[in-house]
Amino acid sequence: MSGLAERRILLGVTGGIAAYKAAEFTRLLARAGAQVRVVMTRAAQDFVGPLTFQALSGEKVHTDLLDPDAEAAMGHIELARWADLIVIAPASADCIARLAHGHADDLLTTICLATESPVAVAPAMNQGMWAHAATAANVECLRRRGVTILGPASGDQACGETGSGRMREPAELVSDCTEVFGPRVLSGHHVLITAGPTLEALDPVRYLSNHSSGRMGYAIAASAARAGARVTLVSGPVQRPTPAGVERIDVQSAREMQSAVATHLEAADIFIATAAVADYRPAEIAERKIKKGDEDGRTLALARNPDILGEACARSPRPYCVGFAAETDTVAENAQAKRRSKGADLICANAVGAGIGFGDVDSTLELFDEHGSVRLGPADKETLARELIMAIAERVRSLTQEQRNKAT
Ligand code: PMT
Repeated sequence: MSGLAERRILLGVTGGIAAYKAAEFTRLLARAGAQVRVVMTRAAQDFVGPLTFQALSGEKVHTDLLDPDAEAAMGHIELARWADLIVIAPASADCIARLAHGHADDLLTTICLATESPVAVAPAMNQGMWAHAATAANVECLRRRGVTILGPASGDQACGETGSGRMREPAELVSDCTEVFGPRVLSGHHVLITAGPTLEALDPVRYLSNHSSGRMGYAIAASAARAGARVTLVSGPVQRPTPAGVERIDVQSAREMQSAVATHLEAADIFIATAAVADYRPAEIAERKIKKGDEDGRTLALARNPDILGEACARSPRPYCVGFAAETDTVAENAQAKRRSKGADLICANAVGAGIGFGDVDSTLELFDEHGSVRLGPADKETLARELIMAIAERVRSLTQEQRNKAT
């Protein structure tokens, strides 16, 4: 039986050329056994007619907030209560903005305001509109409120431009929806995750650090929690809300991170090292602000930081260990070498550099284990995190008893 069988999915369709793909999405949801009810905005109806969705879902399509017939039968409050999940696909920039600002001037936004069910949106718009600071702020606002953002994907656009803003493909959206309902692939597991940068003090006012924003690690923590795991997140200094259902421990330096990880590693059976840990720290932390002298240059003595992932991999028993490899060149080769040298079960390679890898950018992960490699993305980090969690769960599930015994 599919994970969507008998699930009640309310599909919101807004105005955009990708509305035609929502018809295929409806068909796939219905084929997976979901009950689908469709709400269309006025603009959506300029692209595809309600009859198409009625035929595919087998249900009357809802279009008006103030429809006396609908209010007597399935009005906005009933629809909001009926849905196990609300998915808006395609979600236009305007729809995202109105959701972010709590508008309730049409049926779809009113339902979203009234519902207690999870809401997911699949953005679809021109790449410039997606990249605009206003859209970015609206998306971030929704994300912070717990709305799941599905995509968008990158590639050729209907307007002739190329970039990020395409709606995810209908089949991908179906698997996204399946994840919302489970199977809770990490149920019964305890996942320990490191995220963000470390900050290595030089004196009371200066430090060494890097550009990690924590977004990747936090997305992984959120996804693992949604997949049913108990999640402990050891976080370097970042400004991010703690994902729902996640226990967070804040640290600053690599040595603090090492100590927090050591404390929680015993209880964990999966360790995911996403943090960009400084390999070196100043050999001494000056008690007072270091004054500049007359000399031209100055040498900073550095001491090696502990290898937190390496130590976790060397434990016995040890959790299933997942490392990241941030590389500026020869990504695959360096990642494989890192996997072997650290002894990790899986390593996720990603390219980093100016405008690449760190922060709010789409990324690509190449996963290497002893059996080979698989590529995820390019996609936003929440999508990558969901796919990574599925990949980890699959690998952990298929560990043979012999391998388990070896680990213990
Ligand atoms: O936080 P974001 O802005 O979203 O950016 C995400 C990211 C680019 C930071 C992330 O995807 C990533 O690549 N994290 C690992 C960065 C890194 O430190 O890579 P590395 O190749 O230097 O380290 C290899 C692995 O060893 C990593 O799993 C790291 O966590 C771990 N490590 C490294 C050094 C150390 N002293 N202890 C460690 O545990």
